This record gives sequence, structure tokens and C-alpha cells, in this order.
Amino acid sequence: MHGDDGAREPSDTYLRGLFSLSGRTALVTGGSSGIGYAMAEAIGRAGAAVVLVARREPELAGAVAELRGHGVRAAAISADLADADAVRRVCEQAPAFFGDVDILVNAAGNNIRRPMAELTPGDHDLTMRVNLTAPYLLGQHFGPRMAGRGWGRIINIGSQQSISAFGDSGVYGVSKAAIAGLSRSQAEAWSRHGVCSNTVVPGFVLTPLTEPAQAVPGRVEALAARTMTGRNGLPADFAATAVLLAGDGAAYITGQIICVDGGFSVH
Ligand SMILES: NC(=O)c1ccc[n+]([C@@H]2O[C@H](COP(=O)([O-])OP(=O)(O)OC[C@H]3O[C@@H](n4cnc5c(N)ncnc54)[C@H](OP(=O)(O)O)[C@@H]3O)[C@@H](O)[C@H]2O)c1
Repeated sequence: MHGDDGAREPSDTYLRGLFSLSGRTALVTGGSSGIGYAMAEAIGRAGAAVVLVARREPELAGAVAELRGHGVRAAAISADLADADAVRRVCEQAPAFFGDVDILVNAAGNNIRRPMAELTPGDHDLTMRVNLTAPYLLGQHFGPRMAGRGWGRIINIGSQQSISAFGDSGVYGVSKAAIAGLSRSQAEAWSRHGVCSNTVVPGFVLTPLTEPAQAVPGRVEALAARTMTGRNGLPADFAATAVLLAGDGAAYITGQIICVDGGFSVH
């Protein structure tokens, strides 16, 4: 016999200390769709105000409305992150909504799927600008400001190609390998000042980005079979990791690759 009847609600105060994001402001690129939206919603519902960045305004407006429906303070900036001037504008405009950015999530990405020999210099340039240069520039702007305030979190979204080659990795794979290096460099630069940076590595997730792959007969099932869980990822699978990495409880997690992939990478 134990001293009480066993089942007990967790202590709200204890959980808040680990996971509450109240009083924080997050900037989430790619926050209008897929993994970025799911992370934005999770971070927002854990208490942070959220600013989304993507190109298409109707999708941004829809995402902001959905977030507000969950009681999240939310705003959006339309910007093409392939354009360094637009990245600079995002840096200037983002803090005007809810104050300094404490949490930066780099989820915007493109994937030009062609055999490597057929990729053009333009494909290389566009992929690297969106998938690597924009996260680099946003980190270079917000990282030192977070460090100056003694607290910050950067979550970069990698891919299986951050750690291995996988189905026409091409220049996408180059950019996603590099973003894991970016997290390590950011972690080295700012962790001593309370800023943690990590890379989240998804498996195959059912989002608009992977629609071309989903359209190939048998591909969805084959990829699900390569996981340990027996299914492909959904955006909601990224919610808890986003809250963990964005919060006070993750103060000693930095420079890491964190796979949220149903065991894909180890199967
Ligand atoms: N789905 C997967 O299986 C998978 C696997 C591994 C890694 N990832 C990574 O996860 C991240 C999110 O992907 P997702 O699958 O969630 O894709 P998604 O649903 O298609 O979302 C992509 C987001 O990025 C934005 N975006 C794309 N290009 C942009 C640009 N030039 N400037 C600004 N915003 C831009 C899109 O909005 P606009 O189009 O309106 O700009 C959208 O909000 C990406 O970095 C991707 O590489 C995904």
C-alpha cells in the first residue's frame, strides 16, 4: 500500500517551470503550414506570442486566425526568405508586434527533387538561400540579442539528409546537412549566454512539401514500413518537441540533432 490512492494530477507549478512559454515571443518561419505551423501552435498554446513568416498572405492569415482561435497572440509577416533584403525586413518588423524575439524556429524550406546531375546553379542558389542562408542570417541577427538578454532558443529544422543520404538528396541534402552544422556553431557561440540551438530532424511527414513523393504509388506505404512505429509523421508529432526545446527545461540541451522520426533513422 502507498500513502495515497495512486493516480494524481501533475503539479501545475512543476510543469509550468519546465515547459511554460508565458512571456516569450517566438518567430516561426514556415509557420503557415505543416511542421512550422504545428510548432507555432504548440509554442503559442504553451504561452508564447507568435510571429509567423512565409510568402503567401492568405495562408498566413488562415494560420493566424487558427492560432487566435486557440487563444494565441499571433501576427504574420509576408516575406520571401530567398531574398536577403526581405530577411532584413523580417528582422526589423518582427519585434514590433510583441517585443524582442526569444525563440526562433527556422522551418521554412524548399525541396527541389531532381537527380543531382540535373540540378541547375539556380536550383542550388534558391535552395541554399531559403534552407540555409535565411536561418543563418536570422540567427546572426537574433542570436546576439538573445545572448545579450541571457536567454534564447533557436530550433532549426533539418531532415534525414542532415545525417544520411536519402532519395535524391541533391542540394536539399547539402543544405540540411549544413543546418545541423549551423545549430552547432550557434550553440558554440551563444550557449554560455543562455541561448540553446538545436536541429530537429523529421522522418517522412505528410505535408504539402512531400506531396510529390506522396503521389508516387506505394511510396507512402514503403516509407511508413521503414519506421519503427509503422507510420509516417504528422505535423502534430512535432508539438511536444517544440515546447520542450523552446522552454526553460531545455537549458542543457544544445548543439544537438533531435530525431522526431518514428525510428526511421535507426531502422
Ligand atoms: N515533410 C517532411 O517530410 C519533412 C522532412 C524533413 C524535413 N522537413 C523540413 O521541415 C520544414 C517544414 O516543411 P513542411 O513539410 O512542413 O512543409 P510545408 O507544409 O510545405 O511548409 C513549408 C513552409 O515554408 C514556407 N516557405 C517555403 N519557401 C519559402 C520562402 N522562400 N520564403 C518564406 N517562406 C517559405 C511555406 O510558405 P509559402 O509557400 O507561403 O512561402 C510554408 O509555410 C522544411 O524545412 C522541410 O525541409 C520536412
